[in-house]
Amino acid sequence: MAFRIALNFEDGATRIIDCNDGEKVLNAAYRNKINLPMDCSDGVCGTCKCRCEQGSYDQGDEYIEDALSEDEAAEGMVLTCQMVPSSDCVIQVPVPSSACKLKPAGHEAAVASVELMSDSTIILTLDLDTPEALAFLPGQYVNLTVPGTSESRAYSFSSKPGAEQASFLIRNVPGGLMSGWLSDQAKGGDRMRFAGPNGSFFLRQVERPLVMLAGGTGLAPLLSMLEILADRGTDQPIHLIYGVTHDGDLVEVDRINALAARLPTMTWASCVADEASAHPLKGYVTHHLSDDHLNAGDCDVYLCGPPPMVEAVRLFLKDKGVEPAHFYYEKFAASEPVPA
Ligand code: FES
Repeated sequence: MAFRIALNFEDGATRIIDCNDGEKVLNAAYRNKINLPMDCSDGVCGTCKCRCEQGSYDQGDEYIEDALSEDEAAEGMVLTCQMVPSSDCVIQVPVPSSACKLKPAGHEAAVASVELMSDSTIILTLDLDTPEALAFLPGQYVNLTVPGTSESRAYSFSSKPGAEQASFLIRNVPGGLMSGWLSDQAKGGDRMRFAGPNGSFFLRQVERPLVMLAGGTGLAPLLSMLEILADRGTDQPIHLIYGVTHDGDLVEVDRINALAARLPTMTWASCVADEASAHPLKGYVTHHLSDDHLNAGDCDVYLCGPPPMVEAVRLFLKDKGVEPAHFYYEKFAASEPVPA
């Protein structure tokens, strides 16, 4: 049986490789043409040390304390030249992907649809040429090239891994290169290229209640995560708060309701900051985040939104004296996410 091992590099690039039953991660990576850091390959030098964020494995006992101490092993550090996975794993590699001779992975697709959901938001859906070649973790992003230019913009998938189509929520930025092309020129069948996946904002193992906070098109990666959670099922409570500036910015409401119907433990709310809005919940996401959701800090927070929102939530938690077990976030500027 083969396991899927996600190698997440220091620069945010990610590759998901297969690792055969009983195979060491270093060997599996090499077989997949990825040269992970290594020297001795015998558990002596410690050069191949990485952090395993998720998954189960056998670290073996044929390495020396100098290469990996007991404390390090207890904290999830692993030697990839010794580690044999017994499940799918996510491994953080502490060097840039270029140091492992990894070339940016390019993908091609055709425009399936461009939906102008409101003045502010466009949904772009692509038919992938080779869906099987695109492996990503729910929450990650790619760099989409604007057709006819050499410019690219970063967008998180709102679709789930493994789907035949990839979709993205794109903010309609006045004068924006990508949103301008989508609004004025794009038509079904147009070819698009993108590179990735990238990013360390992705769904981890669900071990406690989840609080998901989305600002505007920051909803996209959370939708991808929720799709996977709905497929897998979970007993943990999930609460999503989706905040936007104006009423027209609120999109994908039917899809969120459909996800909530598939996830019995999920609740959600949306809020609009505009004071002139007729929406029942006004203000920012922090105005609607209750002590119940925060569960005295025993929760994992996933946040994707503009930088001021990330800071506002940080301050809010600090003022409340609540420190979530994990706080994963991705900030995005006008047109592209900035890896956390
Ligand atoms: Fe030396 Fe793994 S390569 S300990």
